[in-house]
Amino acid sequence: MENNWLNEAFKGEVPNGFLGKVGWASPSNIALVKYWGKRGKQLPQNPSISFTLSECRSETFVTYEKADHFEFRFFFDGKENPDFGAKIDKFLIDYQVFFPFINQLSLTIESRNTFPHSSGIASSASSMSAFVMCLLDIESKLVGPSTGSGSLDLCKASYFSRLASGSAARSVFPKMALWGTTNCFKGSSDEYAVSLENDIHPVFTTYHDSILIVSGETKSVSSRAGHALMEENPYAPARYAQANENIKNLLKALKSGDLDTFINITESEALQLHALMMCSNPSYILMKPNTLRIIEIIRQFREETKTPLCFTLDAGPNVHLLYPDSEAAKVEHFIQDVLTNYCDQGRWIADRVGNGPKKLLQ
Ligand code: PMV
Repeated sequence: MENNWLNEAFKGEVPNGFLGKVGWASPSNIALVKYWGKRGKQLPQNPSISFTLSECRSETFVTYEKADHFEFRFFFDGKENPDFGAKIDKFLIDYQVFFPFINQLSLTIESRNTFPHSSGIASSASSMSAFVMCLLDIESKLVGPSTGSGSLDLCKASYFSRLASGSAARSVFPKMALWGTTNCFKGSSDEYAVSLENDIHPVFTTYHDSILIVSGETKSVSSRAGHALMEENPYAPARYAQANENIKNLLKALKSGDLDTFINITESEALQLHALMMCSNPSYILMKPNTLRIIEIIRQFREETKTPLCFTLDAGPNVHLLYPDSEAAKVEHFIQDVLTNYCDQGRWIADRVGNGPKKLLQ
């Protein structure tokens, strides 16, 4: 794949008068089997599976114009943001061999997130995949679209999103994606994610993810540092074996619509992720007291009402409550009446499974 994209890269002179604007919205995603631990160039130590979200998205516009040399400015929420700009700069420098035309362009990148800044929701998956979609869109204006159907190549988008931010690889596919090589799924790869859209029971396309904001504070340990701590974590080999086993069983449950197995694996994965943090050296805890309180209440509610809902956690204290649409009315009452009492200022975000990136400018 990499060689194809290297060969395909537009290496000619950007035509005079080449200018325009592209725009893409790309969603965040929530992992069920977690990617935690990496090697090489953003390659995962184990495969992961996620739901693509719908409401938590980044919307990115890139204005481009032929120039003598590469220059760019990055604006977040209308304000120039050098920190995030530096991430994009590093990505473009590292991978310019795939996009040599960049050296003849001046770019103005404007981005915003549809989710609140203080929601504790990581935006790197949505923002980096939105930027990569814009970059491939500009490239397609020079070389033509890379797929026969005239749309952008999502495998390529996933590959470059991964290089910008690991879990971003999964954001470019509708409904659900698998990233990482497993012999349980033909075509799976460590280099890019693949779509699971046609390999899941319809119930999973109706899933809601209600994100309960326990704390909107910035995390004390970044994901980058967390991945690095896995290198010395004594439980790492057992974890990677367990993740592979969970992938195998979750893929089966996703196909058959087995909600009990789905719940069992999803919750175990969330707790394993945080257990790994607790037994890293140095150890750290990202859950808050209300994270645990909410988990206990969810489990009790499930036991008492037999509602097939479950939780997962990202690398932070907020709780993602997952349930099929058929249970939405009941669960949303439960959230309003009970769970919001344990949320920061009662805040929660109603999200659900979505359709992947969307072109904002034709
Ligand atoms: O993509 P990163 O480097 O931000 O790592 C994401 C790690 C988790 O969100 C905790 C798990 C996952 O698979 O998304």
